[in-house]
Amino acid sequence: MQLNRAIRWFVIAMLALQNALVMAADPLPETTTLRTLAEMRDIQIGASVDEDALRSDADYAALLGKTFDSLTPENSMKFDALHPGPFRYAFAGGDAVVDFAERHNMQVHGHVLVWHEQLPKWLTSGHWSQAQLRELLREYIFRVVGHYRGRVKTWDVVSEVIDDDGGMRQTFWSQGIGSDYVALAFQWAHEADPDAVLLYNDYGGEGGGRKSDAIFRLLQGLVAQGVPVSGVGLQMHTSVADAPEASAVGANMARLNGLGLKVYITEMDVMIPLPVTSAKLEAQAGIYRSMLRTCLAAENCRHFTLWGFTDRYSWIPSFFPGNGAALIFDKQLQPKPSYRALMDVLSVANTGIH
Ligand code: XIL
Repeated sequence: MQLNRAIRWFVIAMLALQNALVMAADPLPETTTLRTLAEMRDIQIGASVDEDALRSDADYAALLGKTFDSLTPENSMKFDALHPGPFRYAFAGGDAVVDFAERHNMQVHGHVLVWHEQLPKWLTSGHWSQAQLRELLREYIFRVVGHYRGRVKTWDVVSEVIDDDGGMRQTFWSQGIGSDYVALAFQWAHEADPDAVLLYNDYGGEGGGRKSDAIFRLLQGLVAQGVPVSGVGLQMHTSVADAPEASAVGANMARLNGLGLKVYITEMDVMIPLPVTSAKLEAQAGIYRSMLRTCLAAENCRHFTLWGFTDRYSWIPSFFPGNGAALIFDKQLQPKPSYRALMDVLSVANTGIH
């Protein structure tokens, strides 16, 4: 025990010294990015990727590859993208994202197998018996998880089952199959790839409150039934006007750890009510900083993904009119205070490890 502690301290001291020397030699060496620091801290740092931008914008692709070590396809692995017709699967878009990730030595986080949005018309307007819909979903999960087996390490298996009041959301899937579709989806995904990390993913349940409690109870039930769920994705779509308390997020991570579950930050962004001011950019940086710190301090949080990375491409302006600038690089792909805040948290000299 004592010896372990001494070794740990020695390693930390050496890393701090190395970091101090690097910083002294060059305050921002070209090769130091979020991913190089994250690798030293044993945490993954990811971004969702816009498939069109990846094809058409070389600067975007280059910055993505050098800054992150995990990729989530923003839309390319949703049901409507992968299964656009009743007898048709379309893997080219998802494959392009996976190919890019492999070329850049990044992991892929699959998003999303079972969700109530972005479902194709042929599916939602069909007349399905319960047995047919169950078989259809089983076939879909086997086909998709099987296609990406070994290449996609983690999956958002089920997303957004809890509504904003903490009740079960009534959706196409819950109404068509019945509430056991959640457990079944995890079971099927596990059979299709026994090595994959399988997550339940939701928004608005990061800290305390009714929704977070309902998510906790859902997971508690799944774990008690022996369902193969490995962890929870906390989406972390936040705003400078309304961000969760770090202490509440930390407490939530700890209680999920008590169920034996990992926590992944799966979709973080911090929208700014327009106009953007330097005070709001600093406030945004503070929220990124505190959420990454909270993840690092938790025993079960070793993955931190942003929903995009540059304000050049972000879902926020069209989904939350009057808001924008939610990411860590600006529209010119220049780092914002939020980028520097994340770098700061990850740099060994500033971690305050004890
Ligand atoms: C969003 C994408 O960013 C948009 O491009 C798309 O039009 C709608 O979906 N939670 C999720 C993501 O789990 O899939 C959503 O992505 C954002 C909210």
